Amino acid sequence: MSVERTLALLKPGVLERRIVGEILGRLERKGFAIVALKLMRISRSLAETHYAEHREKPFYGPLCDYMTSGPVVAMTLERKDAVEVLRSLVGATDPDKALPGTIRGDYGVATRENIVHASDSASSARREIGLFFRAEEIVSGDAQGDGTR
Ligand code: CMP
Repeated sequence: MSVERTLALLKPGVLERRIVGEILGRLERKGFAIVALKLMRISRSLAETHYAEHREKPFYGPLCDYMTSGPVVAMTLERKDAVEVLRSLVGATDPDKALPGTIRGDYGVATRENIVHASDSASSARREIGLFFRAEEIVSGDAQGDGTR
């Protein structure tokens, strides 16, 4: 596999609990380069588009309510096998099932408010990065070195 990019969203509860720094630290320690980062309020239409694949699910409306209830931190992350590695670092969707040591396992409380969103495939990552960032907002990870200094 190769260096790739993925999208992570720190959900409103992360800002409310003031654990943004802790979560970012865990992502960096796992070797992710942050190549785009913004604090934002998600519009209803962006939430609905982002989660469109869940449109028919009973949790779709409440999920969009939650994601628009407060600020989120959106970021594009880069590293080798970024999609797969981030999914495993984030852990299972249901925090009760997420293993200790994963972000959801350590910080998650409820499935809807499960701390962080991570793209589930390379094609989802491309689509989702495009929803949240313009091309010029992404700063190539090449300039960030390999994390050794
Ligand atoms: P996320 O990774 O953001 O992608 C889809 C989101 O839907 C998921 O995390 C949860 O926030 C939410 N979700 C998935 N399944 C359920 C469920 N059974 N009940 C409530 N929310 C859910």
